Amino acid sequence: MPRLPFLTAYYRRGHHGPARLNTPRTDSTNPPGKWAAATNRAKGVVSTLSTEDKVALATGIGWQEGPCVGNIAAIPSINFPGLCLQDGPGGVRFADLISVFPAGINAAATFNRNLIRDRALALGAEFKAKGVNVALAPGMNMVRSPRAGRNWEMFGTDPYLAGEGSFETVMGLQANGLQACAKHFINNEQETNRQSSSSNVDDRTTHEIYLHPFLKAVQAGVVSVMCSYNQVDETWACENDHILNGLLKTELGFQGYVTTDWWVNMEKYKTLAANQGLDMVMPGASFYGGNVSYFGPALIDAVNSGQVPAPAWTTWPPEFSQLSIWNPANGQHVDVRGDHGNLIRKIGAASTVLLKNSRGALPLGDGVKSLALVGSDAGPNPDGPNNCADRSCNIGILGIGWGSGTANFTYLVDPLSAITAKARSIGANVASSLSDYDLVAARNASMGKDAALVFITSDSGEGYLTVEGNPGDRNNLYAWHGGDALVNTVAGVNNNTIVVVHAVGAIIMEAWIDHPNVTAVPSRSRSWELPRRHPLGDVNPSGRLPYTIAKSPSDYSADIGTNHDVDYTEGLYLDYRWFDKQNISPRFPFGYGLSYTTFAYSGLAINKLGGDDGYEAPTGPGSSLSGCNVRCKQYWPVDGTEIPQLYLAPPDSSNSPPKQLRGFDSVFIPRYASSPVRMCLSRYSFAVWNAANQRWEIPRGTYGVWIGASSRDGKLSGSIEI
Ligand code: BGC
Repeated sequence: MPRLPFLTAYYRRGHHGPARLNTPRTDSTNPPGKWAAATNRAKGVVSTLSTEDKVALATGIGWQEGPCVGNIAAIPSINFPGLCLQDGPGGVRFADLISVFPAGINAAATFNRNLIRDRALALGAEFKAKGVNVALAPGMNMVRSPRAGRNWEMFGTDPYLAGEGSFETVMGLQANGLQACAKHFINNEQETNRQSSSSNVDDRTTHEIYLHPFLKAVQAGVVSVMCSYNQVDETWACENDHILNGLLKTELGFQGYVTTDWWVNMEKYKTLAANQGLDMVMPGASFYGGNVSYFGPALIDAVNSGQVPAPAWTTWPPEFSQLSIWNPANGQHVDVRGDHGNLIRKIGAASTVLLKNSRGALPLGDGVKSLALVGSDAGPNPDGPNNCADRSCNIGILGIGWGSGTANFTYLVDPLSAITAKARSIGANVASSLSDYDLVAARNASMGKDAALVFITSDSGEGYLTVEGNPGDRNNLYAWHGGDALVNTVAGVNNNTIVVVHAVGAIIMEAWIDHPNVTAVPSRSRSWELPRRHPLGDVNPSGRLPYTIAKSPSDYSADIGTNHDVDYTEGLYLDYRWFDKQNISPRFPFGYGLSYTTFAYSGLAINKLGGDDGYEAPTGPGSSLSGCNVRCKQYWPVDGTEIPQLYLAPPDSSNSPPKQLRGFDSVFIPRYASSPVRMCLSRYSFAVWNAANQRWEIPRGTYGVWIGASSRDGKLSGSIEI
């Protein structure tokens, strides 16, 4: 019998995380003993339940049958009011008066743990206040293919970065009585054939790349995990004993419950997937439009006939309110936004990645008295920002990709109105041409202006919706709507052309990036603050690319698989790991991003294993793995925020990628000041998974330590002997 999905009592007590250091944390919403206490408390209650009630706790009541996208029925005899599970990673889906937070890929681009935690705290507070019990978030797949439709919901291409994003997000979401649901477990890396294909991944790659964000979610105390649509090594993820009972519940020690993704396929075990590690079926029926569930009556029969054992434990439910999500018209228009707009703007600004800035184009100086704004993305969607179902169109300013990870904007500021207002306040004029295809109008608007801002986009989303012929996954990595031609047209007549890229991920920029008239390229996956503040200079950019931007699509190691078998033949060599191994020059490397200022690094001091530098060894989950500290100091003469990154270069004997991110920080440095930075390494940082021995091992040898401002910027280097 599966584990049952109650909330644990201690989540209600409020946990606001540690002091505001921006370094990795080892705290958890699941401190030692808490699971055991909650389990014990619940056991007594569960023992009073009938098999029917227990099965009801594990079976959704049906699509759109309750206030959320997934609902568990109330059990009055134990005062259990039911559970409400709602999307998604960036906002409360289908609700009014909520915030749409910057997407996961933007959170990752900040490389700032505090901001990621703050985002999750605010998001969690909104879920809670709307009466949701389980937030179907965060997304922690690994952005294997740059074209994959849901990459924007995730935390980028590096497992360490994604792991930090997962940890902070789970911590923030669960801080005040909400459950997070880490998804999608595992290898759900594309939309194409997501409900039929098999992701085939070797054991070492699974451990070192794809499992790591889930490890961090478990360390943070995540209460639920969503198994994915795809098969893993020819067995559907949700009935896959190896990944659910083996990797997740045994190796990672996950103590919560596993829910299916919505209407997943199963064929080998189905109801008996309860023995394979599955705990809950959502939203109830086994396929869309059906009314028969893998669980429900079938599971009652399986328990009664002894095929599935009775439940061993569960955890204790807290009190919670139920407000309508689906139908805000029934009197539940609770405004849950608080002052989150400020945080959204802050994260928006911090996730701006400035890719090019020649001739001091940005920030725009006082001399700029006339501006042109070109491209449909500079203006609003004339029918409103929520006009297309689950944001399945790319009309006007692109705020977010499409699919279940979306939410309804209460408002969305478009660049034209924001910049016009700001320009007016400084006596500048703004001309515009909002067509992507009218190149004559674009040229006319741009000619003779002090600066021309061209807005281009690339969109993607979840596979149940197709937008402009893109079936979730992007058809290609080029700007939509002829964006390259638009840029070149404007650059042909204006020698201060600033290209604003609003894209769900990497786009190929070769058609114009080296054009001498393209002076600056601020880029982000999502747009809010960028147009309003950034080009006019209010915010000094500090975002970093959470993925590599290639010169050619064929430079990437993995593309969307189109066959039944999606073999991850690139193994460990995902994104920059592949570029490094193959010596391919990226256009912009992973971790790259400019600032208006420059930073100097100095004084790298690497301390030996064993914590002999006086720093306290971390405690809490995962602490047994720690034991090595590295310290570096950096002195920077001007203000801004720098993102120092630490990459380890393992010895050849480890058969590992040339460099792997193992630490980063986000350090605000006032002008003319300097700041010390410390990044710790644990034994786990050095460990490789030995598939034959089924254990982590640390290869002996010399490890290079590279510290710099991107994966290709070894400003400081040293080494560690292991
Ligand atoms: C998505 C999940 C989502 C679920 C419920 C599925 O299509 O893959 O991420 O949580 O729907 O809407």
